[in-house]
Amino acid sequence: MLKDFFIGLSQNQFLNNAAKKYGLKMGAQNVVAGTNIAETIESIKELNKHGISCTVDNLGEFVYEKEEAIAAKEQILAVIEAIHENGVDAHISLKPSQLGLDIDYDFCKENIEEIVAAAHKYDLFVNFDMEDHARLQPSFNLLDELSTKYDNIGTVIQAYFFRAEEDLHKHKDYRLRIVKGAYKEPAEYAYQDKQEIDKNYIKLIEWHLLNGKFTSIATHDHNVINHVKQFVKDNHIPNDKFEFQMLYGFRKDMQLELAKEGYNFCTYVPFGQDWYGYFMRRLAERPQNMNLVVKQVFTK
Ligand code: FDA
Repeated sequence: MLKDFFIGLSQNQFLNNAAKKYGLKMGAQNVVAGTNIAETIESIKELNKHGISCTVDNLGEFVYEKEEAIAAKEQILAVIEAIHENGVDAHISLKPSQLGLDIDYDFCKENIEEIVAAAHKYDLFVNFDMEDHARLQPSFNLLDELSTKYDNIGTVIQAYFFRAEEDLHKHKDYRLRIVKGAYKEPAEYAYQDKQEIDKNYIKLIEWHLLNGKFTSIATHDHNVINHVKQFVKDNHIPNDKFEFQMLYGFRKDMQLELAKEGYNFCTYVPFGQDWYGYFMRRLAERPQNMNLVVKQVFTK
């Protein structure tokens, strides 16, 4: 119920637009690294000091105008330059819908190709984040088409989809981030039961660790993390074949601890004015994250 409520709020365009005007509010500053590139680079430097690498996401959704998609592309190109100039350990995560997927496939492909080519110049990886089921196949198509020219790209497999296993097998030669899945998907396409999602999640991670290229295990779930630690040990999978990922601001102690234990660790660092939808999805996943909001109200 609460999940549906927050997912509904995340999709409200009026509130999305209103939030852009008012800077980071409601505790979003705890989970969004900054509103501009300079602030974000400082947050990355801080994480790098602890041996944590970063994947940077220029926040943005509901892009239906070409000018907006082009502005997003320019911003991501500026992030790539800033990563290079500052010599920080970071790469890019992008959302195809922010770069025009809902406007026109070829237009989106051109925007993404420009980003991938710029990142390639500096040997930076670009992850194509995965969104809802309507955008799933077009996003795989973008990836597969661009992979004929570039090798610095990869994507996400969402374990709640029935088709996830097939997609994983098809894309095993990519660097893949494996997640449970963040959107509200109909029963026609996706498991609804948390236990079923968790079971599939473990199955996909194990398979990719044994058969695939580099695996990013992106979760805050300590049960999954502990399972993976044991699995890699039992199967002699070296540390350079995988990493753990978490979102900026979540389970900070565990992020530091995993890095300290010698695991590769990467923090997903979102930044920008367009924080509202991202923040609401985090509340939907875990209503306890409301404590980020409450804390903010009482510490003002
Ligand atoms: P889940 O929410 O299932 O929680 C399991 C248990 O972990 C909880 O019961 C609790 O015990 C513990 N826990 C979780 N969060 C905690 C916290 N903050 N503090 C303390 N305990 C906590 N999704 C998508 O659809 N497309 C994408 O591209 C991405 N990309 C992405 C990148 C990264 C780096 C991450 C971490 C996640 C994503 N996701 C995503 C989101 C993902 O699909 C999923 O919705 C969230 O990670 C929530 O699921 P978890 O696996 O973290 O644990």
